[in-house]
Amino acid sequence: MTAKIEVAAGLRNWVEIDGAALRHNAREFRRRLAASTRLGVVVKSNAYGHGILETARIAVDEGCDWLCVNEASEGVALRSAGFRKPVLVMGYVPLGELDAVVAHDLRPVVYNLETLDRLETLCEQAGKQVAVHLKVETGTNRQGIPLEELASFVTRLGGSPQLRLDGLSTHFANIEDTTEHGFAEEQIARFQSASASLRERHPELICHAACSAATLLFGRMHLDLARIGISFYGIWPSKETYLSCLERGTPTLDLRPALSWKTRVAQVKTVPEGSFIGYGCTYRTTRESRIAVLPVGYYEGYDRGLSGVGHVLIRGKRAPIRGRVCMNMCMVDVSDIPGAGLEDEVVLLGSQEGEHIAAAQIAAWLGTISYEVVARINPELRRIVTDSEAAS
Ligand SMILES: Cc1ncc(COP(=O)(O)O)c(C=O)c1O
Repeated sequence: MTAKIEVAAGLRNWVEIDGAALRHNAREFRRRLAASTRLGVVVKSNAYGHGILETARIAVDEGCDWLCVNEASEGVALRSAGFRKPVLVMGYVPLGELDAVVAHDLRPVVYNLETLDRLETLCEQAGKQVAVHLKVETGTNRQGIPLEELASFVTRLGGSPQLRLDGLSTHFANIEDTTEHGFAEEQIARFQSASASLRERHPELICHAACSAATLLFGRMHLDLARIGISFYGIWPSKETYLSCLERGTPTLDLRPALSWKTRVAQVKTVPEGSFIGYGCTYRTTRESRIAVLPVGYYEGYDRGLSGVGHVLIRGKRAPIRGRVCMNMCMVDVSDIPGAGLEDEVVLLGSQEGEHIAAAQIAAWLGTISYEVVARINPELRRIVTDSEAAS
């Protein structure tokens, strides 16, 4: 605790990660998955704002088998930091960046033939083989090979010693937003028909489809690899997912949010009744008010949509945002928080003295989802990891 305070002492705003919470969440999933199902932790986008390397270290320590990223550069960062686990690159890798995939033994998700051609050439030059995961289109219409074209991709792979068919995947379109899972069932049926015939010829094929919500709701879709993102960080994918679990009698997970986002008070001033606060004069005090200035704004990831809407925690009490959130600052009303003063710790997201602001709460204020709230915290902000269970 003392160490944490010392590290934060010189910072304007920072993120604290509770390593014990991440470990707990990893165990919650590990014990729900069969031993034959690989636990893949999705650490893309700076581990949903949690810090990619710090998070990956804890995930691997807790028995995570695969690391899943969006782009090749994230895989390279993991390799450079010494991670040897399989790394699945789920997003698009431009043809000009595929050399990094080959050089660092990353496993790309592929859905176009041009990528296979380029990978083959690079592997020939490097004297290597690449493990390819094909992605099939089952209803999301994002990435994916149309089902009727899958056979031609498999034939293409079969004809090349440089390309090894390692996996077959898909991604669900409509699991988090609904408690009615008919569309997901249709996607499952399509994926199962594609994977069943392929697996007959490739018994080692790694089939995977499940994100957090699908892992929680469809035990039969854990398959060979579950790709867990948001819930590893202790956040429910949505309230619909939580309700669906309750409806299905699925034992709900005990998820522990790992991320807190903090800043400190930069100035407190008393302003007379009738004063405007901030750009655009969007708020006017209705009484003499004590206004605290916080050194955090939309550059740091504190969304401008929170202007006049959000709250922060100071001394265990809620302080409402007054006026507009600026690029690097915002103002809150501390009139009802006796003693609030310079350098007081401020919680933007997380807990303080029994009060809590959840990512889901900020998401509701903004009309978005928890994913966006945590993923958009500026990656340059310092991540301070407390990990009481880390091996010394
Ligand atoms: C292809 C793919 N798989 C898995 C995930 C993880 O999803 P979740 O964070 O809901 O667990 C994502 C997240 O965006 C994804 O794009």
